Amino acid sequence: MSKPLLLIDTDPGVDDALAILMAHAKADVAGLTVAAGNVGLGHTVRNARTLVDLVGAATPVFPGCPTPLVRMPDEDAVHVHGVDGLGDVGFPEPRAQASDEHAVQAILRLSREHPGLTLVALGPLTNLALAVRLDPSLPQRVARLVIMGGAVTGQGNTGKIPAEFNIGFDPEAAHVVFEAFPAFDLVDWEAVLRHAFTEEEFDGWLAAGDRRARFFEQVFRTARTFNLKRGRRGVIVADALAMAVAIDASIVTRSETRHVAVEMDGRLTRGATVVDWSARLGHPANARIVMEVDQARFGAMVRLALGA
Ligand code: BDR
Ligand code: CA
Repeated sequence: MSKPLLLIDTDPGVDDALAILMAHAKADVAGLTVAAGNVGLGHTVRNARTLVDLVGAATPVFPGCPTPLVRMPDEDAVHVHGVDGLGDVGFPEPRAQASDEHAVQAILRLSREHPGLTLVALGPLTNLALAVRLDPSLPQRVARLVIMGGAVTGQGNTGKIPAEFNIGFDPEAAHVVFEAFPAFDLVDWEAVLRHAFTEEEFDGWLAAGDRRARFFEQVFRTARTFNLKRGRRGVIVADALAMAVAIDASIVTRSETRHVAVEMDGRLTRGATVVDWSARLGHPANARIVMEVDQARFGAMVRLALGA
């Protein structure tokens, strides 16, 4: 398999961190465009720079939007990822610098310079929404868009029961992107829960790995404890699953292609992803919803990224 070229929009975030390690182990990375989400933009940009230092790459980091498009978010994910978004380990000031170019401009420029790249969206879709509004021809220049987001049967992970975090943080942006891209892969929260690793296998990889494993073991502690407290089974790494699908689409063993829309109103449902499961409305299907992936191949990609 030839290496795909990825442009990663992200809000790191510990599972973003693992996904970014996977990307650098298996693909070429054109850049990290950074959004606010899990924590504020100052932290997410700094975390992206820390990750670039860790992998020893020259991957450019482009700071993007500091807020959602329309409404301020109801919640962040500090309780999962730590106040600084990387488990409050206290890493030194990174050497890698952020670019002066805005993430939205960088998405458009890089998509012109590298037609056929794969866009991977691991955070709220604010940057991508602005990019496609500025240049509606963006979808024609990318080979694939893979989105981590949504909860396709309404079992989300936020204060609004049916909303998943990335979509719930900026539903207007998600709406723009879901309408503008005629076809994308959707890796939703419910698929993530079905693809947890066992504690034993994951601990084995952390013990056997290199400096990347030691880094991840540290940054992941807060999120792991939170997941256990929530009664979630196994090791859950949402963005890593989306990255596996982005790196190699053939890892998907079962999918459903349907029209998916985003609820922007709703006292109890803002941020929900509404799937027309039985094609009642006659809208063209926009999302290939990932239902199952080859778990062994997913695990192999994670192991490689940890140096295990
Ligand atoms: C998504 O929300 C964030 O907290 C994670 O980084 C992931 O992108 C999971 O709902
Ligand atoms: Ca994320």
